[in-house]
Amino acid sequence: MATIVMTGGSSGFGAIAVRQIAASADPVIVGARCPSDVADSLDLARLDSVRGFAESVRQRLGDRSIHVLVLNAGLVRPDDTGRTPDGFETTFGVNHLAHYLLLRLLMPALADDAHVLLTTSGTHDPATGAALATPRHADADLLAHPDQDPGRHTTPKKAGEHAYTASKLCSVLTVRVLNADPEMRARGVAAVAFDPGQVFGTGLARDLSLPLRIAWKVLGTPIGAPLRRFTPTMNTPDAAGSALAGLVLGDITAPDGRTYAALRSGRLTWPDPSNLARDSELAQTLWADSARLVGLSR
Ligand SMILES: NC(=O)c1ccc[n+]([C@@H]2O[C@H](COP(=O)([O-])OP(=O)(O)OC[C@H]3O[C@@H](n4cnc5c(N)ncnc54)[C@H](OP(=O)(O)O)[C@@H]3O)[C@@H](O)[C@H]2O)c1
Repeated sequence: MATIVMTGGSSGFGAIAVRQIAASADPVIVGARCPSDVADSLDLARLDSVRGFAESVRQRLGDRSIHVLVLNAGLVRPDDTGRTPDGFETTFGVNHLAHYLLLRLLMPALADDAHVLLTTSGTHDPATGAALATPRHADADLLAHPDQDPGRHTTPKKAGEHAYTASKLCSVLTVRVLNADPEMRARGVAAVAFDPGQVFGTGLARDLSLPLRIAWKVLGTPIGAPLRRFTPTMNTPDAAGSALAGLVLGDITAPDGRTYAALRSGRLTWPDPSNLARDSELAQTLWADSARLVGLSR
């Protein structure tokens, strides 16, 4: 049976995916802020917690390898003023830097032919026409310390959106570097960035304003169904969870050369990601700068 390590499996559509995966995997190690019988302690806002979780995963696995690593956790904030205990802007710290560190620490434990899935967002791509501020760059230092970004949005809401969409651009760029890495290629390791579309009704809006939280919740009920019919990017939590489970279990496989899976009208499609997300030099720079920020060598 496959061994699976996952973040973001404690709630939202990730929890739906875990329920579908559980019967076919042993173990599914979920990292979560609230540890339980089925989840080990992991707070992605703290790099020491990421290191501790990676160590506990290695101990639990012993001489077994990881077949699928799923980096699905994420958050959205109303602005870009939050800082992690390590001093990084919170959205970038949780969504990108912590996952980057976890990936680096667990790469040696990946099985040959392992799959790595990173949950991104279509909002990383201006072409999807999302209403959120689109990423202006993927400069790790400026994203970690947005007060030093000369192009920082002046409205807190737009700055928060930028932190989110840029962190999701970083997920796609990370997938790009992994798939180009000679050692990963030699071992048959393949990475995919998963865009679930707009999935109302999950917990993702929990830090946003009350009107946004209400709209998020209401659109996640059957009231949102007519809108979904006319908006291909809108999906239910069940559809997003099932698509993620399908990718994890290998029921859905990437067509040759495709590494970006976007859920549209409940079905996985394999478009190109954004122009910035296809910039290999940008991806390599992000990788190296992220390593420095989390205290690793390249
Ligand atoms: N919903 C959408 O429209 C949408 C669209 C595009 C992309 N996404 C992405 O899809 C993923 C799942 O989102 P969702 O909609 O299912 O949201 P959700 O219900 O808020 O789930 C987010 C998951 O991330 C975990 N998480 C957040 N902060 C964490 C931290 N500091 N340490 C450890 N775990 C943490 C949460 O854990 P807790 O259980 O402890 O809260 C939860 O399991 C995210 O990466 C999100 O950015 C969502």
